[in-house]
Amino acid sequence: MLSTESRPQLSGKHYFTSSPSTSPNQNLLPLTAKINEKDALEIGGCDVPQLVEQFGSPLYILDEVTLREACRQYRDSFRKYYPGESQVIYASKAWSCFGVCAVVASEDLGFDVVSGGELFTTLNALEQMGWSIADAAAKIYFHGNNKSVQELEYAIATGCTIIVDNWLELQNLVKLGANSPDKPIRIMLRLTPGIECHTHEYIRTGHLDSKFGFDPHQLEGVFTYVSQQPSLNCVGLHAHIGSQIFERQPHQDLGGVLVEWFEKGLTYGLPLTELNIGGGLGIRYTESDDPPSIKEWVKAAAQSVVKACEARQMALPKIIAEPGRSLIGTACITAYTIGSRKVVPEIRTYIAVDGGMSDNPRPITYQSQYRVALANKMSAPYQETVTVAGKHCESGDILIKETPLPETEAGDILVVMDTGAYNYSMASNYNRLPRPAAVFVNNGEANLFLQRETYVDLTRQDCLPTRLLK
Ligand SMILES: Cc1ncc(COP(=O)(O)O)c(C=O)c1O
Repeated sequence: MLSTESRPQLSGKHYFTSSPSTSPNQNLLPLTAKINEKDALEIGGCDVPQLVEQFGSPLYILDEVTLREACRQYRDSFRKYYPGESQVIYASKAWSCFGVCAVVASEDLGFDVVSGGELFTTLNALEQMGWSIADAAAKIYFHGNNKSVQELEYAIATGCTIIVDNWLELQNLVKLGANSPDKPIRIMLRLTPGIECHTHEYIRTGHLDSKFGFDPHQLEGVFTYVSQQPSLNCVGLHAHIGSQIFERQPHQDLGGVLVEWFEKGLTYGLPLTELNIGGGLGIRYTESDDPPSIKEWVKAAAQSVVKACEARQMALPKIIAEPGRSLIGTACITAYTIGSRKVVPEIRTYIAVDGGMSDNPRPITYQSQYRVALANKMSAPYQETVTVAGKHCESGDILIKETPLPETEAGDILVVMDTGAYNYSMASNYNRLPRPAAVFVNNGEANLFLQRETYVDLTRQDCLPTRLLK
């Protein structure tokens, strides 16, 4: 935490370091961030306070350059460090909507989806871009620990790859596959590799006490069963060990574990060709977060798979990685308008903004920390330490505890950095707040890709029980 006492000259300029990293996930601000002649924050060549004037507040502002750059660094690093075939797929749970899908697809990435809704969104976006269903489905991998039969039927109809999580799902697939024995269902198996990583308990998924995937002791039974099902075409293995990870070692270990099980799977006659190492690379939300760059992460993960394959004289499988946060997290900021202020003498000063836990549930869910700046007064010196509160009827609706800021007044524009991942996608209408609009910014142009919800949108699904109607 910055101390206003010891460093009184600090201002929003502080976030502009002289040598920003070229890896998006190592920065606090999007790559195109600047301070313009009006002392305002500019992203993608667009003045942030002006964007708020034009599109309203709160507003998600997504920098296309940063998103594309992250996609390219993943894609090109795998091509550089992995001598076999590779495919990066976007974990669309981070932010699933037409606009994001379109940009990501245009960078040659595929998609991980975890529900019928995400599958529908992705397919629909790609169809609008002129893709055939077959071409789109070839790049989509469907996850989930409790997929419904309807979701499985939908996935099978599209032809995407289903990443099977458990026994019930396998049995359901075998039943569904009996309807079209000449067209086996393309599946992968998700393993729980038993790898611990140091991240928030809720976002750890690869250790043994996890709700996801087959445990190692189940695997040989699963291999036997799957190898006897003509309706299943099991093309690979998958594991995802957690999110917001700053170490390289867990994914290096994972490469070895996956290759070991891959080799075993082959001995059961499974036609395995793909190995999916999941996502999980962290991003910099505060100065103390120190993730490896995208390149470093890819190099470490790819080399561990190569090494494990070489040790077994095994042909290299197609490697798949499915990052979410590190692709889109840093590309977005959320702009709010400051409203009321409450001073609790000698304890705390609260300033309230016009959004909060409904557009960013991460602080209340994971105690996540963020950095903020005053977008219309970037050089104003920090003068006080305040707590930024949301507008929800919930004492815990605090976006940032104790952050230094210049003196603020109602109407100032506050931006929260690094809100691209798991913000809009986890947003709610708590207290019946309409969800904010979202714009892409690029080269001085702003394009709306999610409209602000209206009160009519909020009540669209409401209906009165007929007995109450006169
Ligand atoms: C199965 C799976 N793959 C990929 C991801 C993406 O993780 P991250 O956003 O940390 O890269 C997640 C997120 O939790 C996940 O559950």
